[in-house]
Order: sequence, then C-alpha cells, then structure tokens
Amino acid sequence: MYTPFTLASKYVHYYLTAGNGKGHGIHSPFVFDFVVHVLNDRRNFYAYTEIELLRNKLLRNTEEIEVEDLGAGSLSSPHRKRAIGSIARHAAKPGKYGKLLFRMVERYEPKNVLELGTSLGISTCYLASAHKQMPVLTLEGAPAVAAQALRNFEDLGLKNIRLITGNFDTTLPKVLEVVGSPDFVFIDGNHRKQTTLNYFHQLVQRVNHRSILIFDDIHWSREMEEAWEEIRKHPSVTLTIDLFFIGIVFFKPEIRQVQHFTIRF
Ligand SMILES: C[S@@+](CC[C@H](N)C(=O)[O-])C[C@H]1O[C@@H](n2cnc3c(N)ncnc32)[C@H](O)[C@@H]1O
Repeated sequence: MYTPFTLASKYVHYYLTAGNGKGHGIHSPFVFDFVVHVLNDRRNFYAYTEIELLRNKLLRNTEEIEVEDLGAGSLSSPHRKRAIGSIARHAAKPGKYGKLLFRMVERYEPKNVLELGTSLGISTCYLASAHKQMPVLTLEGAPAVAAQALRNFEDLGLKNIRLITGNFDTTLPKVLEVVGSPDFVFIDGNHRKQTTLNYFHQLVQRVNHRSILIFDDIHWSREMEEAWEEIRKHPSVTLTIDLFFIGIVFFKPEIRQVQHFTIRF
C-alpha cells in the first residue's frame, strides 16, 4: 500500500490532469453519455438517504465481531476482533461511490450483479436498491461480517440479494458456473496484483458485450496499479474509465479503437 503522502500526491496529479467531467474533449458518444447522465447526475434518490442512515447507525455500533482477514486491505487494524463501527469506517466505500454504483445499475440495467467483497453490505445495498427485481450475488469471506450484512439487508427490506460466504478462491468459480455471463461486477476485496488479475481472468472468459467490471482502489498500491495496467491492455477490453478510486472496464464491440479515459470525479 502506498503511504498516505504518495497516495495524496497521486490524487492531486489525477485531479489536475483528468478530464473535467463536463464532456469537453470527450469524443466518445458513449463516454459523453456516461459523464452527463451517470457521473454528473445530481438527482437524489430515496435509497441514498436510507443507506446513509444505515451507515450512520453502523458507525455508532461498538459491538465487536470476529474478522477473518482473507485479503489485503485491513492494515488499519490487524486485530481479529473489531468493532462494527470501525469496519464501517475503514472498509465501506464512501457514499459518493455507492451512489455512482446505484446510478450505473439504474442506467445500464444489467441482468445480474456480482460483488466480490460484501463487508457490512453498504455497497451491496446501493447496487440492489437501483433495481429491486435484479438479482445481486455478493461474496464475503468473514462469516461474522457476512452475518451482520444479512441483518442490514433485512433492515432495508432488500430481498434481491444472495450472500455467499467463503473465500473467493472457491466461491467465485462456482458462482460463475451458475451466473454464466456476468453483466455487472464490482471487485472490492483482496487488493493484491495476482489475486486481482486472477479474478479478472476468470471474469473475462465469460463477459458479454454489455458487461461492466468495476475495480476498486486501482491506485492504492504499486501492485494494484500494475494489475490495472494489465487489465487495460487485455485484448477483450475496448474502453476503460479511470476515476482514481475506481476503474471501470467495458467490452463494447462497437468501439473499434481501444479508448482509455481518466475523468475527474
Ligand atoms: C473493502 S471490503 C468491501 C467493502 C464493501 N464493498 C463496501 O463498499 O461496503 C472487502 C471485503 O472483502 C473480503 N475479502 C477480502 N479477501 C477475500 C477473499 N479472498 N475471499 C472472500 N472475502 C474476501 C473482506 O473480508 C472484506 O470484508
């Protein structure tokens, strides 16, 4: 993991050099539409309020639960027992990105959604709230954390989520057998180069022209940046969008010349 200083310098560089997100200089009609109708969509959905209220409740929760560490990313607390509030503070994606996931699902209407890394389920709630009939499969390795996520889904009355507990190494191949071709995948667990590439290679064999893969923390460490570079260069990838804290990958065949965008968000 980069030091906070290196990460901050990288972010400043991104912020100053990225496209301004207002569409200027974006010559791809698809990406222009994404910027206008997804990235910069300022509508306020009721689900946002509900999920952020849930987050606030979790942040205040001092109950300690057992956390089995299966991936890179929990360096802030190496203890096995952690307060739910601390997990909510360190593991869950901020609301800005949860809302973006919601808007992407709302706009692109995937047939299925898969998430690697549920944690307490905050991002899962954003994904599942955008279309309440759409099936969401979410994978989590730590049983006590998964149990709390299930309580959270119940609190919000979300019935379209199926949580599968276990290490991605065993759960992902099985889930892909069932899903067939994944339409929308959020990869937010185990931020290491080889594991990220391993998940990507399993997914890329099954993607279709509508599939969207979203990788979390692509600039979090040198390893993650190397993984992101390899993903961008894969021959099936036709378009990528780098928003610094997440990277989005498309496989649209109509895009004849591969395009990579970095957009300020
Ligand atoms: C960053 S958190 C996910 C946060 C969540 N997506 C959100 O934004 O609300 C990553 C989760 O992935 C889980 N994880 C990491 N590596 C894993 C693995 N190899 N198998 C299963 N779960 C894993 C961790 O237990 C952790 O709960």
